[in-house]
Amino acid sequence: MIRVSRVRAASLVYAVVALASFAAVRAAHAQPRFEWPERAKNLKVLPKDTPKEKLTATMVGFTRSLGVRCPFCHMGQEGQPLTTFDFVSDKKPEKDVARGMMKMVRDVNKNLTKMKIPGPSRVEVQCITCHRGRPRPLTLADELSGVYATAGIDSTVARYTLLHDRFYAAGSYDFTERSLSEFGASLMAKGKNDDAVRIFQLNVQQNPNSSFAYASLADAYAAAGQKRPGHPELREGDPARAPQPGRRGEAQGAARRSEVGRDGDARGSVPGSGMAARGLALVVDGIQIFAFPAFGEGAASPLNDALDLVAGALFVLLLGWHVAFLPTLLTELVPVVDVFPTWTAAVVFVTRGRSWRPS
Ligand code: HEC
Ligand code: HEC
Repeated sequence: MIRVSRVRAASLVYAVVALASFAAVRAAHAQPRFEWPERAKNLKVLPKDTPKEKLTATMVGFTRSLGVRCPFCHMGQEGQPLTTFDFVSDKKPEKDVARGMMKMVRDVNKNLTKMKIPGPSRVEVQCITCHRGRPRPLTLADELSGVYATAGIDSTVARYTLLHDRFYAAGSYDFTERSLSEFGASLMAKGKNDDAVRIFQLNVQQNPNSSFAYASLADAYAAAGQKRPGHPELREGDPARAPQPGRRGEAQGAARRSEVGRDGDARGSVPGSGMAARGLALVVDGIQIFAFPAFGEGAASPLNDALDLVAGALFVLLLGWHVAFLPTLLTELVPVVDVFPTWTAAVVFVTRGRSWRPS
C-alpha cells in the first residue's frame, strides 16, 4: 500500500513540475500575436468594410504574386514581428504603386467582361498574371539587357544562372533557347560580338539538343572573327558540328548542316540520293550495253549522246558535280568504250565510303 502511494505521489510531483516548466517556457516566449484588423483604417481601393478574411487573402496573395514579403509595401523591419509594423501608414511608395496596380487590374477585368470573347468562361487577370513571382515583370531578355547595360557581360551571365536556379521551376521566365537567342542577337546588332559569343555559348550549354543554338553560336563566332574555335561546345558529339579551321562562314555551314545531320546525312545530301544514282547508273549502262548495236556508234548516235547528257545532268543533280563524271562523259561519246559500264564505275567512285540510307 505504502509503496503504491509513494509511486503515485512521485508521479503527481513530476506532473506538476512538467506543467509548471511548460508554462514558464510559454510565458518566456509569449509575444503579442499579430491580429488582422476587423476593420482596416486606411483602405482606398478595397471597400472600407472589407472583412479581415478577405484582407488577409489579398495581402498574402500580393506577397506570393510578387515574390516579396510584407515590408516590401509596408513600414516595418524584415525579420521583426508583424506587431511592430505600421500597416496603416502610406509612407512606402510601393504601397501606392500597388494601389495603382489594383485599380488597373480592376479596369482590365471590367473591360474584359465587355468584350465578346468566345469560350465558356472568362480569364480573370490577377497580379500573378503578369508578375509571376517577381516585383517587376520583365522578360528574361529584358532583365539580362538591364544587367548588361549597367554591369557588363560577366554579371549578365551570373544573373542568368541565378535566375535559372531560382525561377526555373516557377516558370516565371522563358528559359527556352528563345530568350538567350533574342538577347544574343541584340548584342550582335550592337556589334558586341565577343559578348554575344558568351551568350550563345551559354545557350548551347543550356540547350545542348538545339541545332539552332549551335547555328547561332557559329554565326557569332564568324561575326567575332573567332575563326578557329577550339570550343568544346561545337565539337560535342556529332563531328559534323565541328567547324573546319579556316574559312569564315564554315563554322556556320557546319552547324547548319548538323540540322540536317540529325535525321538525314551529315554531309547535307538528300538521303537516298546515292542509292538512286547507283540504280540510275546501272540502268543507263544497261541500256547502252544491251541495246547495242543501236548505240554502238557512240558519238555518232544522237540518241546515245542525249542519253549520256541527260544521265550526266541527273548524276550532278543527285550527287553534286564531281570531276569523275568528266572522263565518263567523254568516253561515253566514244564508240565501243561506251559499252563498258562506265557510269556505274563513276557513280560508285563518287559515292564510295558514303553510307547511303535509302529513304
Ligand atoms: C504589394 C504591396 C503589398 C504587400 C506585399 C502587402 N501589402 Fe498590405 N496593403 C497594401 C495596400 C496597397 C494596402 C491598402 C489597400 C487599399 O488602400 O485598399 C494594404 C493594406 C494592408 C492592411 C490594412 C491597413 C489598414 O488598417 O489600413 C493590412 C493590415 C496589411 N495590408 C497587411 C499586410 C501584411 C500582413 C502583409 C504581408 C503578409 C502585407 N500587407 C503585404 C499593399 C501590400
Ligand atoms: C498587366 C500586367 C500587370 C498586372 C496584372 C499587375 N502588374 Fe504590377 N507591375 C507591372 C509592371 C509592368 C510593373 C513594372 C513597372 C515599371 O517598373 O516600369 C509593375 C510593378 C509593380 C510594382 C512595383 C515594383 C517595384 O519594384 O517597384 C508593384 C508594387 C506592383 N506592380 C504591384 C502589383 C499588384 C499588387 C498587382 C495586383 C493587384 C499587380 N501589380 C498587377 C505589371 C502588372
